[in-house]
Amino acid sequence: MTEFDASKISWQDQYKLMVGTVTPRPIALVTTLGPGGPNAAPFSFFNAVGSDPAMLMFSVGDKAGGAKDTVRNIRELPEFVVHIVSDAIREQMNICAVDYPLGVNEIEKAGFTTAHSRKVRPPRIAEAPVAMECRLMQIVDLGRKPYHAVFGEVVHFHYQDGIVDGRFHVDVGRINPIGRLAGKGGYTRVTDRFEMPRIPYGKDPAGG
Ligand SMILES: Cc1cc2nc3c(=O)[nH]c(=O)nc-3n(C[C@H](O)[C@H](O)[C@H](O)COP(=O)(O)O)c2cc1C
Repeated sequence: MTEFDASKISWQDQYKLMVGTVTPRPIALVTTLGPGGPNAAPFSFFNAVGSDPAMLMFSVGDKAGGAKDTVRNIRELPEFVVHIVSDAIREQMNICAVDYPLGVNEIEKAGFTTAHSRKVRPPRIAEAPVAMECRLMQIVDLGRKPYHAVFGEVVHFHYQDGIVDGRFHVDVGRINPIGRLAGKGGYTRVTDRFEMPRIPYGKDPAGG
């Protein structure tokens, strides 16, 4: 085994271990509304955290000089829209990660079209296969090199046609999401899926 005492390695090396180890990570493309207009940025420290109500979380580090625009905007207006990043919008997503100054509309820079949200003020991105309108539940500030874990309640779901059936089953293949791996430009597609049903208690091959 290769081992590391986390207290003896730098934050940069811990970052490399984290992003190389916890993979693949889904990517939230988050729109917010600030004083200078709408903002969009991707975050792969992202996941679902509950379903009554539907809740999700993404985690944002600081940039040189302070909070990223996404966190700054959410602290002012506690609403946001989380979009799932599909293969079709990967290049535009990447443009949204450019460190533009506050007030620059990454959504326009990326060539995305905005659409009105129904229950929150930040707009949604029309090209995204899924958009989840969220109200802020809590921001938890964590760590010595601070991260801000943003927890939101999903108050409205948007799916492009053909993704969800009448029984609320989602066709992941039609979302065609990409996932973040490590390194400067590592990503993956969901192109090698398989099924493995849960085993009821008493039916396991090891005999209970
Ligand atoms: C695929 C991808 C995933 C990213 N994930 C994160 C993340 O989880 N947390 C974070 O702080 N920054 C992450 N970033 C960097 C931010 O997107 C970047 O700092 C962005 O400029 C922040 O924008 P804002 O200042 O408008 O909020 C990621 C970038 C990319 C391309």
